[in-house]
Amino acid sequence: MQKITDELINWYQKNKRDLPFRHTNDPYAIWVSEIMLQQTTVAAVIPYYYRFLSTYPTVKDLANASLDEVYKLWEGLGYYRRAKNLHSSAIKIVDEFDGIFPRDYVDIISLPGIGPYTASAISSFAYHEEYAAIDGNALRVLSRLLGLHDNIAENRTIKRITEYANKMIVGKDSASFNQGLMDLSNAFCRPKNPDCISCPLHVYCQAYKNHEEKVLPINIKKIKKTEHSFITGYITYDDQVMMKINEEGLLEHMYGLVQYEVNDPYAFMEAFKKEYGQSLILESFVKDFKHVFTHRTWHMHVFHFVLSAPNDYLMNAEDMKKAAIPTAHKKILDYMHKHVIIAD
Ligand code: ADE
Repeated sequence: MQKITDELINWYQKNKRDLPFRHTNDPYAIWVSEIMLQQTTVAAVIPYYYRFLSTYPTVKDLANASLDEVYKLWEGLGYYRRAKNLHSSAIKIVDEFDGIFPRDYVDIISLPGIGPYTASAISSFAYHEEYAAIDGNALRVLSRLLGLHDNIAENRTIKRITEYANKMIVGKDSASFNQGLMDLSNAFCRPKNPDCISCPLHVYCQAYKNHEEKVLPINIKKIKKTEHSFITGYITYDDQVMMKINEEGLLEHMYGLVQYEVNDPYAFMEAFKKEYGQSLILESFVKDFKHVFTHRTWHMHVFHFVLSAPNDYLMNAEDMKKAAIPTAHKKILDYMHKHVIIAD
C-alpha cells in the first residue's frame, strides 16, 4: 500500500499537468476551480477560471456581486446551481468566517455545494491536510488497483474506498496523491481502453494482473432520465424576442423562451393567453431541438409566433448579451439569428 502511494506521488511530481489552479495555495481560488471542475472538463474550465478570478479576486468581491452578474459570468458552463452555491457560500464566509475561507474540514463541508470530495480536495491542495479526494475517476483507479468488485455507484463502496485511500496517505503528500490519481486516470486509467502497459502502477494493479481492466469498476446506476416534450415559442415583436425569467426550478434565475409541455402550437397559444392575457399569431414551425441534462431530456419543438402588441418581456440583441441564458435555449436563439432575418 505504501509502495503504491510513493510510486504515484513520484510519478505525479515528474509528470504533472501544468494547470493554472495548481499554481496557487489560495483556498478561494482552489475552491472556485474545484466547483467548476465538478461537472466540466479541465479544458473548458480554464478560461472561465481566469475570468472568474479576475472579476472576483477575493471571497468578499464575490459576496458583493449580484447573483445575476455571477450567472452571467457562468453562462455556457452549465449546472448553474454551482454558481448560486458559490455566491451564497461567499456570503456565508463573509458573515460567519470574517471573509476568510475556513480551514477546518467541518466548516468547509458546511458550505453549500461542497461535498466530501470537494472538501477533501480543498483541504489537501490548500492546507496539505490528509484527506483523500475521491471522485468517480479515483473510484475507477482504486477499484482497478485493488481488484474491487463492489458497485461504485453505492455509498458504502465509496465509503470503503475513501477509508482505504485515507490510510494510503497517512504521513504522505496528500495533494500530490490526489492530483496524481486525477492525472493517472486521465493519461492511462481511462474508463474505456485503459493504457495499462504505459501506466506506472500496472505492476501493482490487480485488475491488470487478472485481465479485468475492462470489467472494473462495477458501476451500476439506477438513475432514470425523464423525457419532456415542449412546444417552445420564439415569440417576437418587431426585432425583439420574448424572454422570461425562471423564478424556480432547474434553470432558476435564468432567462429563457416561453415553453409549455403541450402537444401542438394551438394548445401553446391557449396556455400563453391564459398566462399573459395576450393572443399570438402563429408564423411558422422552425425546427426540433433536443437538450440532454443529467436527469432529463428536453425535446423542444420550436415555433415562431408574433405578438400583436408589445409586453414587458421583450429583449433586443443587446439585452440578450447581458442576460444569462441556458444553453438549451441559447442554441435555439443562435440558430434563429443565423437563419431568420426579422423584418424591421
Ligand atoms: N479535477 C478536479 N480537480 C482537479 C485538479 N486539481 N487537477 C486536474 N483535474 C481536476
